[in-house]
Amino acid sequence: MEKILVIGAAGQLGSELTKSLSDMYGGESVIATDLNESAKSKFDYCQFKALDIMDQDTARNLIKNENVTQIYHLAAVLSAVGEKKPLFAWDLNMQSLLFVLEIAREFKLNKVYWPSSIAVFGPNTPKVNTPQYCVKEPNTVYGISKQAGERWCEYYFQKYNVDVRSLRYPGLIGYKSLPGGGTTDYAVDIYHKALAGEKFDCFLREDSFLPMMYMPDAIKATLDLMHAPSESVKIRSSYNLASMSFSPKEIYQSILKHHPDFKIEYHPDFRQSIADSWPDSVDDSCAQKDWGWQPDFDLDKMTEDILTNLPNFSF
Ligand SMILES: NC(=O)c1ccc[n+]([C@@H]2O[C@H](COP(=O)([O-])OP(=O)(O)OC[C@H]3O[C@@H](n4cnc5c(N)ncnc54)[C@H](O)[C@@H]3O)[C@@H](O)[C@H]2O)c1
Repeated sequence: MEKILVIGAAGQLGSELTKSLSDMYGGESVIATDLNESAKSKFDYCQFKALDIMDQDTARNLIKNENVTQIYHLAAVLSAVGEKKPLFAWDLNMQSLLFVLEIAREFKLNKVYWPSSIAVFGPNTPKVNTPQYCVKEPNTVYGISKQAGERWCEYYFQKYNVDVRSLRYPGLIGYKSLPGGGTTDYAVDIYHKALAGEKFDCFLREDSFLPMMYMPDAIKATLDLMHAPSESVKIRSSYNLASMSFSPKEIYQSILKHHPDFKIEYHPDFRQSIADSWPDSVDDSCAQKDWGWQPDFDLDKMTEDILTNLPNFSF
């Protein structure tokens, strides 16, 4: 029987991924963990424990005592917050990953999942249809930590046979939790403002294209990758992953079809230069070929789904 530990489970991705894992494996097989005990209320369907992943003795005891077989390591400092606290971001993002990889090696865990990001690319990367293999010179501490993390994942797979799998997520858009300080957060916030009947101040330029993905597709991709036969997972750094690419103006126009009076203003801030260093769109043909990746949502389908379901969702 699998015992799955989710680290950073209360965040934007974890809140939805932990539920899908519990639906799939049963709540008794999933342990959600996050920094604060207050997150427990989100996890009435599985076990919950407060855990700071930097407290390695406590984490190690938990993994040992609960006979954990798989880890989904989602805790990280994201791009915008990372630029404000670069050394803290480097420390948390790297030390926690190295700890998880070492534990996986020592306890011979079945599988590890660790997300990377389009932030591994940089200003010298080809911006359109960015290939799997290309120049990567990230210039944010978040991107540098994800790039280094990818190298460590591949290293642990090659040297120690740790079955670690990873995706370079684009900006993730979901309505079931609030985003955690990334550069693509505007594409979540904009729906909340539209539904509240308020004007939206966008922190990016109207023509700033970025790769994005609706959360149900991100969950599907994660579970598809984690359930693919080991021999199909040919890339052990991290897979490019794509579904849509749009600008703030395009998401605004998609919302206008449902809320014709909605207003937007553009006031780019420090996050514009982060967005400028990232791709406009990503080539994910390796994920398509190796484990059959196909997204379900485009921009208009996502907009319709969020505007229909967000008003009925309580945080
Ligand atoms: N959201 C996106 O658009 C996006 C895009 C690409 C990659 N990712 C990656 O996916 C992962 C999850 O992202 P997210 O958007 O859910 O982030 P988030 O900030 O919403 O959630 C991260 C969670 O980790 C927890 N955490 C922070 N420090 C911790 C610690 N020391 N110990 C235990 N838990 C801790 C936080 O409390 C939070 O609940 C991250 O690795 C992120 O880099 C996210």
